[in-house]
Amino acid sequence: MSQRTKIKALLESEQTNMEVTVKGWIRTFRNNQFIALNDGSTNNNIQVVVDFENTDPALLKRLTTGAAISVVGQLVASLGKGQKVEVKATQIEVLGDSDPEKYPLQPKKHSLEFLREIAHLRFRTNTFGAIFRVRNTLSYAIHRFFNDRGFVYLHTPIITASDAEGAGEAFKVTNLDMANPPRVENGDVDYKQDFFGKATNLTVSGQLEGELGAMALSDIYTFGPTFRAENSNTTRHLAEFWMIEPEMAFYDLEDNMDLAEALLKYVISEALKYNADDIEFLSQRLAEEEKQKPQNERSEMGLTEKLQFCLDNDFQRLTYTEAIDILKESTPNKKKKFQYLVEGWGTDLQSEHERYLVEKHFKKPVILTDYPREIKAFYMRQNDDGKTVRAMDILFPGIGEIVGGSQREERLEKLEQRMDEMGIPKDELWWYLDTRRFGACPHAGFGLGFERLVLFVTGMGNIRDVIPFPRFPKNAEF
Ligand code: 4AD
Ligand code: MG
Repeated sequence: MSQRTKIKALLESEQTNMEVTVKGWIRTFRNNQFIALNDGSTNNNIQVVVDFENTDPALLKRLTTGAAISVVGQLVASLGKGQKVEVKATQIEVLGDSDPEKYPLQPKKHSLEFLREIAHLRFRTNTFGAIFRVRNTLSYAIHRFFNDRGFVYLHTPIITASDAEGAGEAFKVTNLDMANPPRVENGDVDYKQDFFGKATNLTVSGQLEGELGAMALSDIYTFGPTFRAENSNTTRHLAEFWMIEPEMAFYDLEDNMDLAEALLKYVISEALKYNADDIEFLSQRLAEEEKQKPQNERSEMGLTEKLQFCLDNDFQRLTYTEAIDILKESTPNKKKKFQYLVEGWGTDLQSEHERYLVEKHFKKPVILTDYPREIKAFYMRQNDDGKTVRAMDILFPGIGEIVGGSQREERLEKLEQRMDEMGIPKDELWWYLDTRRFGACPHAGFGLGFERLVLFVTGMGNIRDVIPFPRFPKNAEF
């Protein structure tokens, strides 16, 4: 087998007039002469020129959109417009045919909704090729960021008996006979007879186990799938999503915010550096989509500008209480334009409020801190005012909440008191409470929703388009 060169390398090649082997999938074949070939290494196709007069007509017929081929030929400077180099084929082999009558991807624009239905093939479009290359860069950059800072990548369990967020949105894991489960006297299912000898679920967050690691390794992070059975059919929620959760001993909330801001800026700059072509393509895609919208709904910045803007500006930091004051006095609140009017202190912010703060008021990413304790999880450190906790949420333009985190309650008594108030079973979390008994220290951490990050960097509008095979209510295809 001769050495195959990837298309990205061929297009960047300084050298021409040499024999190359290239393999990929045909995007288009026009005039019986020009193949646009793509192998996923870049958004750009290489042009393969076919000597059709000296090629078997039976073979020409098989050069259809979607077919996989192997080409041997000369890499030469291109005379045509649009590409610097092309391959003059001397030998073409069809590795896998693709019946043009049946192949669902035609060389034309398909709607994102349609492509979602053929998610097994959508990788072969320019848009999804770009999205998944950017996703890969972001993932790798996250690991590099933490590794460079001496963080330990900790693999927390996927199956667990706890509900870290206490929101009751966990998927059950069981191998009991669903049609006829064993029961205890009062009729409840007897989970003692289940696989793990107790009721278990898919994790909603690796944080609690992450904290255990941080209490010895100092700085850890998890990066894995998390699962939530929340029935929110929105463009921002998935039932299965990936989350990055760093947890740091001896950090307070300020340190936590600094780290989160540095992480976001670093990974965005890495995407701009390594995926310039893809982001340029996605930027144009977004610009075209924006043109369909009425003038007043169009965003002021293009994708590249928006990303650069994030890098160039400090995130605006303010407390929840300050944010409520701004929202109360805001025009949409006074003119009753918000769907949920902001009246008093203490209610959770809706995404329309978050987006107002970010997109209209501050016009940059915002970090809100010190939320009312009633709307936050039990593990957040309580402030002296008796009302708020040391929480922080990072809000991004077009996305809303991208990061949620806090300084943790390290004082055993305060933590137990809060768990009692919120009905969190202390006996089940004995191991978590042990860290507060033995060498407790101030610590903090946060969770970054990976798909929300990919959504932001790619400028896509629906979270279902930035994960290969989205899971959401009534959908687990592929
Ligand atoms: O705010 P959340 O629920 O925080 C936690 O789970 C903490 N344990 C994190 C921590 O402090 N270690 O979730 C964190 C982030 C959100 O800000 C959001 O970006 C993302 O996870 N997220 C989702 N992304 C997609 N689909 C969903 N259903 C999501 N729920 C949360
Ligand atoms: Mg949150």
